[in-house]
This record gives sequence, structure tokens and C-alpha cells, in this order.
Amino acid sequence: MDQKVLPAAQLKGTIAPPPDKSISHRSVMFAALHQGVSTIENFSEAADPHSTVSCFRSLGVEIEQHRSTLTVHGVGRDGFRHPQQDLDCGNSGTTMRLLSGILAGAGISCTLVGDESLSARTMRRIIDPLEKMGARIKARQDDYAPLSISRPGSLIPLRFELPIPSAQLKSCVLLAGLFGKEPTQVIERIPSRDHTERLLDLGIEKAGNTRIISSSRQDVIPEQSYTIPGDFSAAAFWLAAGAIHPRAEIELPGTGLNPTRTAFLDILREMGANIRIEQERQAGQEPVGDITVAGSELKPINISSERVPNCIDELPILAVAMLFADGVSRISGAEELRHKETDRLNAVAEILENAGADFTEYEDGLEINGSPDFTPRPARYNSYHDHRIAMAAGVLSLLADSPSTVLGAECTAISYPSFWDDLQLLTN
Ligand code: S3P
Repeated sequence: MDQKVLPAAQLKGTIAPPPDKSISHRSVMFAALHQGVSTIENFSEAADPHSTVSCFRSLGVEIEQHRSTLTVHGVGRDGFRHPQQDLDCGNSGTTMRLLSGILAGAGISCTLVGDESLSARTMRRIIDPLEKMGARIKARQDDYAPLSISRPGSLIPLRFELPIPSAQLKSCVLLAGLFGKEPTQVIERIPSRDHTERLLDLGIEKAGNTRIISSSRQDVIPEQSYTIPGDFSAAAFWLAAGAIHPRAEIELPGTGLNPTRTAFLDILREMGANIRIEQERQAGQEPVGDITVAGSELKPINISSERVPNCIDELPILAVAMLFADGVSRISGAEELRHKETDRLNAVAEILENAGADFTEYEDGLEINGSPDFTPRPARYNSYHDHRIAMAAGVLSLLADSPSTVLGAECTAISYPSFWDDLQLLTN
């Protein structure tokens, strides 16, 4: 589907962001690992979390859905059935990487497959530690899905220092660790999103800036009902839109505010954005609040590697916001973006090029010379079938002076199925 986007004279309204994708995945996985019935309220309608649901159904977990509520009949750590068919993770890296940890831990033999994009993303980072824990993994070219997983012997606990700051890798190893008699320890020097350790209430030791997170069979999978907060990474597109548009006021009620996810909020504020947070509260283990953003003049900013993991999914839309800041902004230490649903540095650079921006692409980032007067050229933007690229191009198009088109725009359904309707709502 090609989506035409008209310039917006103003951006005004209230948008409840869609349910958080990362927490939706984990709630299904942890409810399945718990022996007993759990409910999940405000479950995501997006395609990625539904890949997780269908994989767990194939593993013998009964999951009922009534509107946005799931009821999961958890089978416990030792109750999964060997699936009859390959498990299809679709486009979802979180499904493939976290599920691999659970399967290796549980000793379930099966094959994980994914779509073309997921089959081109490296799995080496999870294969290495899982093999050290006793799993046998066959991968295409030793690196890519399909992944055939088995564990012939018993699970070997691991002390693992994360070579890259990745929540997917951290979670994969910790989930495998849940099946070991002795603790598995993951050493994290640069924080990444902490939903797994929060929701499972795992033991954490702090030594300076380093966190050592442990998991073992002794950890009881908590009995809980989950309420999924609004996805900060989806709200980020409207936060940016509100900050860069001179006539904007957007309210984002019930947005997740987990501090390991919200670096983009701090960054926008440092750039001078006009952002208010009200009604801060807890939704289960996760903080949420109501955010309001209004148009403001933006200053340029430099983002380097330490900040990258806590805004990794927001970097494409941050690059768009930087176009409207008064001067030169930089993103560096972000080579990980080249390993997402598409090479996001390359895809963002193409958007900037088509919009007529003044920028330089580096191996690990971007330098962008912005201006509050920047008016993007109307363009036909390629989404590369990547939801966050499509949404970044959509927001940028609102600031042009004649219509633009986002190609392959249906891919927003991966994380935010109502994105184009919400965009329309704000411009009316
Ligand atoms: C995710 C972690 C991040 C993020 C992805 C979801 C998660 O990936 O980009 O969208 O739910 O754990 P990495 O941790 O691999 O960087």
C-alpha cells in the first residue's frame, strides 16, 4: 500500500499510543512459563506480538483472545510440547531471540523461521552463548534463520558478559538460565531495556555502573495479571511531530515511561522541546504517565554510544527531529541500527536525501545540519518494509509544502496498526 501524506496546517489531538510491543511479547512468554491462568489486558493488535502468540500456541499453550484481553493457560517450564511444525517468528527479532532462549532452556527440539527481513538478521549473538549453555543450533551460514535448536545434554549455567548492549540478547540468556539448577549470570555494563528482569523480578547485583542479573530454576515465575502500557517507541513519532511542528499540541495518555526506554524524551527536552508529563503512575511493574507536547524551537544535539541503547528504536525519528534544530546535530556509535528490520542508517539517509536535507552518513551514525525553516521536498519515500522507517517518513511528510507518498506503508502494522488513522486524526 502506498500512503499519500498531505502537509499539516496544525497537529492537534489526543492519541492513546498502541500497547507496548516489547512488554506484549514478554507478557505472553512469562504467562506461558507460569503454571496457571494469567490475563493480559490491553494486548497489542500488532503483527509482531501475534507472532509470539502463535509460536506459543504451537508449543501447546492455550491462549484465548477477547478483544484486547488475552487469557493464557500457562504450562510451566516443563510443560511445552514438541511442535509439529516450524515456529514462524514473522518479522519479529524479539520473538526469535527470546524464544530461542526458552527453547534451548526447555530442551525442545524445533526450527524457528522468519520472513525475509528476519532471515537476514544475525543470530550469531544468541547462538554463541546458547551453545555454551549446551544447546545445539544449526543456522543458515552459521548465522541466520532458519534456526534448528536442540539440547542433547543438561543445561549448563553461564556467566556471560554482554558483548553488545542488547536487551534481546540479555533476555535470551536469562530465559535459558531459568531452566538451570545453578544460576546463570548476565553482566551488563551499558543499560538496555529492563522489562525482562522487572517482570520476572530477577535478582540484580550492582557494582558501580555494572549490573549482574541472575536467573535459575529457583526463580518462581510470578503469578500476575498484566496490563500493557502504551508504547513509548510508538508515542515517540508524535512526540517528534509535536516538537517540530509550529502549530502542534498532542496529548499521549497512558504512555510507558520505563527509564530504560525514555532517553528520547530527555533528548527532546535537551533540544528545547515543550513537553509536560502528568499523572505518573504504575501499570503493574512498569511506570506510565500522560505526556503532552507542543511545538517549540529546537537546538541541535550530539548523541553518542552510551545513550544509543536507550533510544535505539527512536533514532530514525530523532534524525527527522534534528532536521528542524538550529545547527549541526550528530548521532554516533549507532552501527547497531544497520542490523534492525532493515539497515536503518542507510534507510534514514535515503529519506534525508529525498527530502533535500544537508547531512552526512557515517558507518556508525549521521551528521545533520538542520534549520527551523527547513521544508522537506515532497517525495516518494521507500519504507523498505520497516515500520519505523515508514512512520519516520510519514511524520516528515507532514512538514512538507505539498503531498508526499510513503511506499509499502502497510508495514506500520508490525508495531502500530492504526498509525495512518492516528496521523489523519491529528491533522483534522
Ligand atoms: C527489543 C530490544 C531492542 C529493540 C527491539 C525490541 C526488546 O533490540 O530494538 O525493537 O523487546 O527486547 P536490541 O536489544 O537487540 O537492540
